[in-house]
Amino acid sequence: MILQNVLRMVDPEHSSRVSVLARNFAQALSIPEREAMLIGMGAKYHDIGKISIPLSILQSPMPLTEEQQEVMKRHVEYGLSILSVYHSEEMNVAKTIIATHHERWDGTGYPNQLKGEDIPLVGRIVALCDVFDSLSSERPYKPAWTLGQVLDHIRQERGKAFDPELTDKFLEMICEGVLEGKAL
Ligand SMILES: [Fe+2]
Repeated sequence: MILQNVLRMVDPEHSSRVSVLARNFAQALSIPEREAMLIGMGAKYHDIGKISIPLSILQSPMPLTEEQQEVMKRHVEYGLSILSVYHSEEMNVAKTIIATHHERWDGTGYPNQLKGEDIPLVGRIVALCDVFDSLSSERPYKPAWTLGQVLDHIRQERGKAFDPELTDKFLEMICEGVLEGKAL
């Protein structure tokens, strides 16, 4: 399947970790098993649109300029465009995740500035898992953060970037070691 080849070209380790984390988080939230599985499968595709972002931006060793950030944000629309011809249950969840994983609880995210529970639950789940894994990992422009730094950041973004109730459950479960993730 062509999509699998595309996935392999866009930080596949990050995609896999976010996928596992999202599935486990959904299970821990008592979301029915079948839905949890679809969330995990859909989460793999959250950044697939980055295939269309120039490598000079993706691999920039410096924090992105405002202009570069605007280009980076377009990975959402590119991802939706790539998946637009697919209509399975898995792909429909993937599209919702792509469209909403950068929305913020306080309404200052992108691309649609959705706020609070207007953001689909799957987008709120993947937003937490994505940030957790991105900060825990080394990137061209930053070293990996320690688990303590990552959890502090997530705590600070409770009610800002993230759904406050989900944040509490996420932190609780990370601390209990229920979730799988490379930082644990
Ligand atoms: Fe993204």
